[in-house]
Amino acid sequence: MADRIQVLIVDDISETRDHLAKLLSFESDIEVIGTAASGTEAIEQAIKLRPDVVLMDINMPDMDGIAATEQLSSQVPSAAVVMMSVQGEADYLRRSMLAGAREFLVKPFSSDELTASIRQVYSREREKAGRLAAAPATRQGAEPTVEGQVVAVFSPKGGVGRTTIAVNLAVAAATEMGKKVVLMDASFQFGDVAVLLNLNPKEKSVAALISELEEGLDPESVEACTLAHSSGIRVLLAPPSPEVAELITPAGVKRIIEVLRHNSELVVVDCAAWFNDTMLGILDMADVVLTVLTLEITSIKNIRLFLEVAEQLGYSHKIRLVLNRADTTLGIRVADVEHSIGRKIDHTIVSDGRAVVYALNRGVPFVLSNRESQVSQDVSRLATAVVGNRESHEDDTPKVAPKGKSLFAWR
Ligand SMILES: Nc1ncnc2c1ncn2[C@@H]1O[C@H](COP(=O)(O)OP(=O)(O)O)[C@@H](O)[C@H]1O
Ligand SMILES: [Mg+2]
Repeated sequence: MADRIQVLIVDDISETRDHLAKLLSFESDIEVIGTAASGTEAIEQAIKLRPDVVLMDINMPDMDGIAATEQLSSQVPSAAVVMMSVQGEADYLRRSMLAGAREFLVKPFSSDELTASIRQVYSREREKAGRLAAAPATRQGAEPTVEGQVVAVFSPKGGVGRTTIAVNLAVAAATEMGKKVVLMDASFQFGDVAVLLNLNPKEKSVAALISELEEGLDPESVEACTLAHSSGIRVLLAPPSPEVAELITPAGVKRIIEVLRHNSELVVVDCAAWFNDTMLGILDMADVVLTVLTLEITSIKNIRLFLEVAEQLGYSHKIRLVLNRADTTLGIRVADVEHSIGRKIDHTIVSDGRAVVYALNRGVPFVLSNRESQVSQDVSRLATAVVGNRESHEDDTPKVAPKGKSLFAWR
């Protein structure tokens, strides 16, 4: 059998240390190789014992878990830290991740949660180490790659169908057009992609990349944080807890997208419904911005404002307007909308509450489960029109946004 996962337990309370050690003693693939009662002792022990995983209590007298993790990251980088904390310490989560912790467990946790975290962290680190070692060889033989296309699905207003479209578009491009697709949930605070695809962000998500974002991202780590969906697409989920979202900087997002597009033919990004610097970073990187609107006055008003800003920022050429839930019974006609925003609608998707909500609740995209429906066909048509069709957009040469334009320059 393969080596056991060597764990160091760090907690100032001796009963907790004993309890954790006892729980882990039942696992045949995990071995507790030492314990420490303080941050200082943790570092000494880690240097001596070289554990794979350190279970670190956050609150300890003398050096706390965060400071100890910071030191460990530089002194024993092979030791992956799983931070343990009591509830109500959301800020600790952020600080731990920044210090270099790989996982965060909230006390009280079950023994299943504990062992799952240890195994996950361990296998992620192993994969990473293995790939780093193998990297020169694989890179030599690698074929020259063409950068994938980045399609951002954006809207200045929530609830208009961005996630629905992003997910189904990504799946349609993979299953119907044979594209190598990665879907990124950039609704970092309250991402829904996981729900629509029935995936678990606790398993893998962008959260694990946070400690690397500012110091130069290892492409292999990004790949390792994506989950495979049964449709064939890969998915980079939003963090499982919203506090982490603000640690994802505009520069960090750009680095992630850079890596994703290098490794795929199509990157679909499900954006958040606001217009901050992080979203701007994404729009900057995008080749196409699918801007979703519905036949509601509020949606139309926001789109008008967005189009003005987009023009100021030099994005106009990559915007495609997608009218979702197009339904003639709503009292607003498409022609009225076009007149109001001074632009043609490029694509239309019908309203089909039954198919869409059924798919959502089952966690299976409707382009897979209900291909005959009009809404699936509309999304497929959208995919064909937008994806892999870059040459046909005569204005598709990347245009650089005017320098010095900030988000609110238009005001
Ligand atoms: N074409 C459609 N027909 C019917 N319902 C839709 C359609 N598109 C989206 N919906 C529903 O609208 C709601 C919001 O969709 P969602 O994709 O989550 O929007 P967003 O990501 O913009 O917030 C969901 O309940 C979804 O099922
Ligand atoms: Mg959404």
